[in-house]
Amino acid sequence: MSKVCAIFGGSRGIGQATAQLLAQKGYRLAVVARNLDIAQTTAKNLGAGHLAFSCDVSKQEDVENTFSQMEKSLGHINYLVNAAGINRDGLLLRTKVDEMVSQLHTNLLGTMLTCKLAVKSMIQQQGGAIVNVGSIVGLKGNSGQSVYSASKAGLVGFSRSLAKEVARKNIRVNVIAPGFVHTDMTTHLKEDQLRKTIPLGRFGEPQEIAKAVVFLLESPYMTGHVLVVDGVTVSTMTVCLSSLLCLGQHLMFPAVALWELLSKSVMKWMCSSPQYKTQRKEKTTSFVVAETFQCPMKSCV
Ligand SMILES: NC(=O)c1ccc[n+]([C@@H]2O[C@H](COP(=O)([O-])OP(=O)(O)OC[C@H]3O[C@@H](n4cnc5c(N)ncnc54)[C@H](OP(=O)(O)O)[C@@H]3O)[C@@H](O)[C@H]2O)c1
Repeated sequence: MSKVCAIFGGSRGIGQATAQLLAQKGYRLAVVARNLDIAQTTAKNLGAGHLAFSCDVSKQEDVENTFSQMEKSLGHINYLVNAAGINRDGLLLRTKVDEMVSQLHTNLLGTMLTCKLAVKSMIQQQGGAIVNVGSIVGLKGNSGQSVYSASKAGLVGFSRSLAKEVARKNIRVNVIAPGFVHTDMTTHLKEDQLRKTIPLGRFGEPQEIAKAVVFLLESPYMTGHVLVVDGVTVSTMTVCLSSLLCLGQHLMFPAVALWELLSKSVMKWMCSSPQYKTQRKEKTTSFVVAETFQCPMKSCV
């Protein structure tokens, strides 16, 4: 299988870093974005053999034309990275419908469109791999980002389902869910405050996310997976939860053992008392109750 990879949103940020890493590894790249000049600069900086294409992923016709152009000039697409994305932060009550539509169309519909065409090409090649760039906000939610979060959460359901649909065709589909990353998308954020919420104490770099994207593209037994790369903002919750469960289990066993020990001692003491021996002969109510509930008293009679 040849190594041709289309990166939508490959001109800047996470997509650009992924393109650089893949170029170093010998892939041929199609760098796709709306702004052709920037895409061309990125493609040129990757070295010879890489091409740039202009495309708005939210437009079906654009995506179809771009795929036919890419296939004409580069051949079949074996690898696809969907990094094209926008965010328009704002409380739901203040978000205009066209802002909702543009986020959903770019972040979610765009990925569906590119995946549909890429899968066609990959089936002919009898294999391929797709990585869709989600976000931790799609997993945990965030005030002021309900629409963005919905678009990224939608990517998870879409990718997991598609992974099941195309697994038999040897095509893998995974999601990467980054936390805060230094790109144009995050330049307006107050980093000093946000940094405190990240256990690693810093934003990620696009190159660090790129490594995880390439890992998913090249891991032959990984599909339908969501890989969180966020300096632990989400993973902390998961770890805390599993630690609590573990702790609960460890505390439960000694507690049960202690309870059994205590109740057996009490029962032994009761059984050895003269009153009990008399009661046993008379088959008093308490003995019948003990028999019925199979309490530890039985083991000492
Ligand atoms: N940065 C973060 O902290 C962060 C965290 C979690 C997830 N993400 C996700 O990671 C992905 C990449 O983000 P980034 O931070 O690298 O953003 P970025 O630096 O703003 O780059 C976005 C890329 O997407 C392209 N793009 C945007 N809209 C497009 C459209 N309609 N059609 C085609 N290309 C389009 C842009 O090029 P043009 O503008 O020229 O089209 C650019 O190449 C996004 O999906 C984002 O949601 C980012």
